Amino acid sequence: MSNFSEQYGPWALVTGAAEGLGAAFAMHIAQQGVHVVLADVQSDKAQSQATLIADKTGVKTLAVETDLASADFMASLTLQLKDLEIGLLVCCAGIGATGSFVDTPLAIMQKAIQVNCMATISLAHHYTPPMIKRAKGGIIIVASTSAYAGAPYIANYAATKAYDLSLAEALWYELAPSGIDVLGFSPHGTNTPGFRRGMPSVKEGDTPVGVMLPEAAVAVAFKALGRLPSTRPDLPENMSVTRQKIIQAAGDFTRNLATYQE
Ligand SMILES: NC(=O)c1ccc[n+]([C@@H]2O[C@H](COP(=O)([O-])OP(=O)(O)OC[C@H]3O[C@@H](n4cnc5c(N)ncnc54)[C@H](OP(=O)(O)O)[C@@H]3O)[C@@H](O)[C@H]2O)c1
Repeated sequence: MSNFSEQYGPWALVTGAAEGLGAAFAMHIAQQGVHVVLADVQSDKAQSQATLIADKTGVKTLAVETDLASADFMASLTLQLKDLEIGLLVCCAGIGATGSFVDTPLAIMQKAIQVNCMATISLAHHYTPPMIKRAKGGIIIVASTSAYAGAPYIANYAATKAYDLSLAEALWYELAPSGIDVLGFSPHGTNTPGFRRGMPSVKEGDTPVGVMLPEAAVAVAFKALGRLPSTRPDLPENMSVTRQKIIQAAGDFTRNLATYQE
């Protein structure tokens, strides 16, 4: 068994795995010998992707229809997964709208908060305790470069991604003593179906300079997992590392708590 499958096996759960970055995550993980659950709202595409990955890599795959926008998706997901041991959780599915804040319907922004944030904490909160018991595992939360500063015209999307990034970085610190690796991953423009919908001039087989291929983006995430709290492929590693800041924040919090409790 490789170090990867020992730390993150026997099963990984990837959301949004029918296509785009999620599909690339699922393939990369399977190539390391870990079985993969592909959860997606597009069940036919998730099934085709699961078959393709199983044929190519020889690992077991399972496609499950999941709508993270539904408030009770966890009940149906856990029913479908039965007692599969999830050693690696990749929260990849994400949605967002482009346009001015006032012109964007509230329901669309609320749905993005459900998919990008509420579903992410539900999944992380559910799968972390068994990982703690096994003293190993991993969680990757896909954020975005838009997480790093307020981003006009994608204001709500960027705010959900800031939440994802912050959550991941804090969990990196909290869960490290339990042997769990957490990573906040912030891709920039990556040639996926979702990206092409927003940028119709970009074609599937023709990736412009400055735009990544999903496989290359995912490789950056796995290079950082287990070493860094977060990473973004558009910057050199030493510019995106926030390890010291997080350790300092944890220290400040502990000292303040001690002071107020005295
Ligand atoms: N591509 C980029 O340039 C880029 C840059 C920064 C961050 N990201 C982030 O990376 C992640 C993946 O992006 P992507 O470009 O690969 O997206 P994508 O090409 O749109 O693929 C995402 C997959 O997730 C599915 N999905 C959407 N809503 C879902 C829900 N409620 N429940 C379950 N599955 C759902 C999509 O189905 P439908 O197509 O039916 O919605 C699709 O199959 C997202 O979190 C995104 O914010 C992407």
